[in-house]
Amino acid sequence: MKVAVFSAKQYDRASFDKVNAGRHQLDYFEPHLDSATAPLAHGHDAVCVFVNDRLDSAVLDALASDGVRLVALRCAGFNNVDLAAARRLGITVARVPAYSPHAVAEHTVALILALNRKLHRAYNRVREGNFALEGLLGFDLNGRTAGIVGTGKIGAVAARILHGFGCTVLAFDPYPAESCRALGVRYVALDELLGASDIITLHCPLTPENHHLINADALEKMKQGAMLINTSRGGLLDTRAVIAALKSGKLGHLGLDVYEEESELFFEDLSGTILRDDIFTRLLTFPNVIITGHQGFFTREALDNIARTTMENITQFEATGSSPNAVGVS
Ligand code: NAI
Repeated sequence: MKVAVFSAKQYDRASFDKVNAGRHQLDYFEPHLDSATAPLAHGHDAVCVFVNDRLDSAVLDALASDGVRLVALRCAGFNNVDLAAARRLGITVARVPAYSPHAVAEHTVALILALNRKLHRAYNRVREGNFALEGLLGFDLNGRTAGIVGTGKIGAVAARILHGFGCTVLAFDPYPAESCRALGVRYVALDELLGASDIITLHCPLTPENHHLINADALEKMKQGAMLINTSRGGLLDTRAVIAALKSGKLGHLGLDVYEEESELFFEDLSGTILRDDIFTRLLTFPNVIITGHQGFFTREALDNIARTTMENITQFEATGSSPNAVGVS
């Protein structure tokens, strides 16, 4: 098949070319897919896209009229695709349901540890010959309560790691996982989780129903000084409300790998430009906030698995007209 690969970075080329070995024609395009760049897909059977490509109804219309029949997502989340429009247009949408839940869960724990022990500040201090410990006081994870929102593949691994640190693990998920229950994870209502947890970490997908799940109300229910981690999707947080909670001290630590407006920022080197997003730049001013640019997935193992499953989805679609990893309208 002829596949237009959007938002393509050097590391995407390397992992996809290795797995593809010449089977499909992969044409790499650096820009995000949106209505302005959709014509690049002309003459292709499929597009291969990532988290910040926008596949709304207008873009899917343009792709369909150019003959595209498959959207091969090289990620797990599909909140950036209008699935109803895809179905109406007869476009199959396939994703990579799991490539390394460990990668994202481990990054989540890296954020927790770095924030708690203030590694970002300690690193800079020691480089400048400042060995003072004031301001670096952390807490033992052992004995603390961690609340996990969404115990699917990633949340379940995060639960296991945090349980290993000696945390009491609470969870909220409409579909509890047996593996978590067996570990001793206690499923509770969201409000109870918010009120009882020292650390709250989000691992549910973004849907229209849970947009701004963590808003001013939810923040108010949290413990004073709680730590909040979001490695899932930016839209789960009302960032303005989160900033207010940081300013008041209600929120003691914030770790983000995702951001509501990240498509304008992440995955690009903008170090020589002026950031125009005042909300994002305000977040950067807090000493108790660590932001990484959507790198939770970024391990060798995960890139290899992403390339393998995506190419398998394309090959299966070519052979059968469908994919085992197709996503439908919920
Ligand atoms: P999954 O589908 O295995 O699990 C999601 C879980 O969330 C399910 O158990 C589901 O029942 C639960 N859930 C759905 N709505 C919920 C709600 N409103 N409240 C509580 N639980 C809810 O998904 P997986 O693989 O664990 O990924 C989770 C999310 O992580 C993805 O949707 C994606 O947004 C994000 N992600 C982030 C990456 C990164 O690089 N930072 C990489 C991969 C995924």
